[in-house]
Amino acid sequence: MTQADQETIYLKDYQPYPFSPQNVHLTFQLAPEATRVRSRIEFVPAPDAPETMFLHGEKLKLISCMIDGQGVEPHLSDKGMELSVPAQPFVFECEVEINPKANTSLDGLYLSKGMYCTQCEAEGFRKITYYPDRPDVMSVFTVRIEAKDLPILLSNGNLAEQGEGYALWHDPWKKPSYLFALVGGDLVHHPDRFTTMSGKDVELNIWVRPGDEDKCAFGMEALKTSMRWDEEVYGREYDLDIFNIVAVDDFNMGAMENKGLNIFNSAAILANPKTTTDGQFERIEAIIAHEYFHNWTGNRITCRDWFQLSLKEGLTVFRDAQFTSDLRSAPVKRIDDAIRLRSVQFPEDSGPLAHPVRPESFVEINNFYTATIYEKGAEVIAMLKRIVGDEAYAKALDLYFERHDGDAATIEDWLKVFEDTTGQDLTQFKNWYQQAGTPHVSVTEQFENGTFTLTFEQKTAPTPGQTEKTPQVIPIAVGLLSQDGTEIQATKLLKMTEERQSFDFTGLKERPVASVLRDFSAPVQLHHPRSDQERMLLLAHDSDPFNTWDANNQLQLDLLADLSTDGTADQTQYLEALALAIGDNTRDPAFRAQLLSPPSSDQVARHLQDQSRDVDPLKIYHARRSLDQELATQHTALFERLYEENQIEEDYKPNAAQSGARALANAALYRLTQVDEGECARQQLREANNMTQELSALSALLSHHVETDEHEAFYERWKHERLVINNWFAIQIGTAAPDDLVKVATRLTQHNDFELKNPNRFRSVIGAFGGAFAGFHHPSGSGYAFMADWLIKSDAINPQMTARLCSAFQQGPFSEDGKIHMRNAIDRLLQTDELSVNTTEMATRIRQTLN
Ligand code: ARG
Ligand code: ZN
Repeated sequence: MTQADQETIYLKDYQPYPFSPQNVHLTFQLAPEATRVRSRIEFVPAPDAPETMFLHGEKLKLISCMIDGQGVEPHLSDKGMELSVPAQPFVFECEVEINPKANTSLDGLYLSKGMYCTQCEAEGFRKITYYPDRPDVMSVFTVRIEAKDLPILLSNGNLAEQGEGYALWHDPWKKPSYLFALVGGDLVHHPDRFTTMSGKDVELNIWVRPGDEDKCAFGMEALKTSMRWDEEVYGREYDLDIFNIVAVDDFNMGAMENKGLNIFNSAAILANPKTTTDGQFERIEAIIAHEYFHNWTGNRITCRDWFQLSLKEGLTVFRDAQFTSDLRSAPVKRIDDAIRLRSVQFPEDSGPLAHPVRPESFVEINNFYTATIYEKGAEVIAMLKRIVGDEAYAKALDLYFERHDGDAATIEDWLKVFEDTTGQDLTQFKNWYQQAGTPHVSVTEQFENGTFTLTFEQKTAPTPGQTEKTPQVIPIAVGLLSQDGTEIQATKLLKMTEERQSFDFTGLKERPVASVLRDFSAPVQLHHPRSDQERMLLLAHDSDPFNTWDANNQLQLDLLADLSTDGTADQTQYLEALALAIGDNTRDPAFRAQLLSPPSSDQVARHLQDQSRDVDPLKIYHARRSLDQELATQHTALFERLYEENQIEEDYKPNAAQSGARALANAALYRLTQVDEGECARQQLREANNMTQELSALSALLSHHVETDEHEAFYERWKHERLVINNWFAIQIGTAAPDDLVKVATRLTQHNDFELKNPNRFRSVIGAFGGAFAGFHHPSGSGYAFMADWLIKSDAINPQMTARLCSAFQQGPFSEDGKIHMRNAIDRLLQTDELSVNTTEMATRIRQTLN
């Protein structure tokens, strides 16, 4: 595969499809190596439709094909079929054979441990049968599944009929093919019921393989909570008699919102306290909500084309974030999201893979399920809501659902409902959808005659394919504190629209301390030069939790930057301020635990780059450790206290209060392990009755390289729990010293339980490897080479998963030698025989910036 073989698709070329399928009837005869799929579709041609019709189809064996009952000979290519059709409505019928067992791409219909399962978003349906596989082509589906020894046969919609060896499903809602799903297997269910706001009774099921029954209860509760929440907050009701969720072990992503039949990666649904950590419980709850919320934002209103992907994903991420904020702690969730944005989306937005929230072109759509489409897309909606206000947001959403129900919509449609409800012109705001790159906002302050002036300047660096940038609309939430920390100006929203803009605060007696970008009111990189004194004042007194946290983050960032370049930095005063903040029992323990999570290495690297200073990943690694060591040594007594105070007596619950206390206790444990040679952690590991406690203790021991064979014991204890073993793999990568990383990873890939074909397992080693900053960017180049070796191996099996993992290369290199090493690794990947389109696109984009 070379670049030339890849076809670029452009937004500007969009054309509606000239044939409309009215009713789709599918019959599946399931067999591992030769599944037969028969389809019968009534098509209505548009008035100006051409004489030939194109249907997507890939890797299909065509058995027969008919139009209005007459056999026809379509023209076949590796992308689909083209055939002559009448100008009036006609019936298309065809039969194909596919091989689910050979399908290791986990896209289309495949087998996972004996269970048939599908994944069709974005373009998997074309691997199942011939069809106009695009989101703006919607139809009503009726699906008959036949299989001998499989008791459970599921598809979308309502169950119409079932009998010995078959089931018939009918989905009354028009949908695009990417929302089609089918499952067949020997499954057991965890049933429940839900009564909707209008009194309709809905059957709920979570389907799992036998042995996983004990991991369904939490997911079911989360599902019911999500259903209620969407009714209460968005007025959205469920619309079928039944809602099924299926857990599958081999899955490329978190989960999929297929109409009435959500399919979940086991790791994103199965949970119980023994095997699941607090963090995983929260993630599972959010994913269940996310997929459920898609029923309205995604399914009832879908996307016209894949360039509009953020229309459903950005909005649904925004909705699931609101849900988590309501259920748990809003400030804690906001800080978590900012951390994630800065550590995943900002690097994407400033590297070779940068693209707008609505891209203009792509080669492989599966490469665009990114942090930019999802998380930045959600941030854009958060900004819109800030700008128009909560009430107008609610009105606009009501209009969106009313106006576009049943549509395949666009970003323009979305913005129009806001313009129509508020009367505001959103032309400039739309730029957030079209322009890639994180705006850098610099702040300068001036105080004169009682007037405090904040001047902002925004700049967005060029990104691939976009050299010229125009100013964004940036909502900047600002508050003012007096020099003694009292709030003298409550949060005010400033709306920046120009490249350079000033805002005055008048009538002040003394120079205030500004708290800028409260609640992280825009996804921008803020540069606000100010003294440590001011930052410590904000850390101690700001009423805005995000900025309290961020003041601390900025303090640490500067210290780490100095430590990793000059090798020294004066820490004592800062550490006192931090100790005071985390020792303050009036503050939420979850928040205090967040104060204890230092800036990530890549954030430190970006900070150094912004200041045009050298980046040495190994030095950053040591800087982070030494700062932590200082903290642990200087404040041991405080950590002992926090550890004791945050032990939980009552029964384990994964709720916000308990998780927060455990997070703080475990952050303390992590520090104590640096001074007690692992005594406390070993004890916790012995006595733990839940996975959060176990894994935190193990992680503390491994991180500090305290001599231990605990991790072997852990393996023996948990080897029958595949989800726990994923964590066991990942934690060893995450805690390896940079010089040992390749050695540790090599050993793990030789472990009997390592699997190339299971994405969760593969990612727990190779994905974690790409995130192990200092080891991956090792000066020897060994990290890049190791990664390339494994990507080459996995590409032949699973292109989607492999392509995603290529993004490890989007940051760095950090030296001339590093550049040569990275270039060699990428070139080796690109020269691989029959490299997939997916991986070729990713590697090519990365390669372009390595010249
Ligand atoms: N729509 C799914 C979700 O966000 C994810 C599908 C990802 N598909 C892909 N081809 N990467 O809930
Ligand atoms: Zn989604």
